[in-house]
Amino acid sequence: MSSEQGRVAVITGAASGIGRGLVEYAAGQGLRLVLSDVDAPRLRALCAELQGRGAEALACVADVADPAQVEGLRDLAVARYGGVDLLFNNAGVMQTGHCWEISTAQWQRMLGVNLQGVINGIRSFVPLLLAQGRPAHVVNTASLAGLVSSPLMAPYTVTKQAVVALSETLHYELAMLGAQVGVSVLCPGPVTSAIMDSNCITGAADAQLDALLGSSIREGMSPQALAELVFAAVEEKRFWILPHKFFKPALQSRLQSILDETNPIFQMAQEDSHAAR
Ligand SMILES: NC(=O)c1ccc[n+]([C@@H]2O[C@H](COP(=O)([O-])OP(=O)(O)OC[C@H]3O[C@@H](n4cnc5c(N)ncnc54)[C@H](O)[C@@H]3O)[C@@H](O)[C@H]2O)c1
Repeated sequence: MSSEQGRVAVITGAASGIGRGLVEYAAGQGLRLVLSDVDAPRLRALCAELQGRGAEALACVADVADPAQVEGLRDLAVARYGGVDLLFNNAGVMQTGHCWEISTAQWQRMLGVNLQGVINGIRSFVPLLLAQGRPAHVVNTASLAGLVSSPLMAPYTVTKQAVVALSETLHYELAMLGAQVGVSVLCPGPVTSAIMDSNCITGAADAQLDALLGSSIREGMSPQALAELVFAAVEEKRFWILPHKFFKPALQSRLQSILDETNPIFQMAQEDSHAAR
């Protein structure tokens, strides 16, 4: 029997890509699941499919950018299963373009989903996890963009770096309390998913980037392989989850430029596509 058997996991952005990979892995481990997404048809179809396979799963259509909907997600999980053991703040969207050309509405969408969504998850669920008085874990999906900055991806980079900072802060605060609640921040490189469907191209420069990102995501790590790494990290209570290693030289040179107080120079991180799988 898996050590996860019977535990309750809440997963946002569950209907596609990385979220779906986490769902499939968790179902295989016998976890009871609360799946959440804004895409109601895909979410309900996935939930029905899991139930058909004998998994305990519940669907909750919710927009993570709306604090009231995330509170509703928590209340549903508690009403159905009596508590929560694992929270995956995973939902996210993409926006490319020159930072000055991205509209206010596009900036707000990115800040709302990618950053406020994680804040809402923490504000709604962490008090519950603390009050339960038993081990629990929060996984926030950031990105390698949370650790290195790239041109033409400002809203994505800004929100993901904020999610890394928020996760570190949460980790320190829970440690100060001696809480049984752990935190991990997931910073993957390319993983096969539908995230580029959420991108709104604003000009020629980012049309090229969109194509480049699209092809590296299509050829990226499988969500199933990623989920296995994530659950292993949760088991080990490991904060940093860095499934791809190819970007570490870029991270090293960023850190060195800060320490040396030299101007940053952008280097395109190169992936060995075979090593990433
Ligand atoms: N795919 C990659 O290469 C990659 C790399 C690093 C980080 N990430 C991050 O992984 C997470 C999952 O993305 P993915 O790549 O699996 O993309 P995806 O588009 O396949 O899945 C994202 C899911 O989130 C849902 N979603 C979007 N807005 C939402 C909202 N407001 N509320 C609730 N759900 C919402 C979508 O409907 C979709 O089902 C994101 O945070 C993304 O930034 C992805």
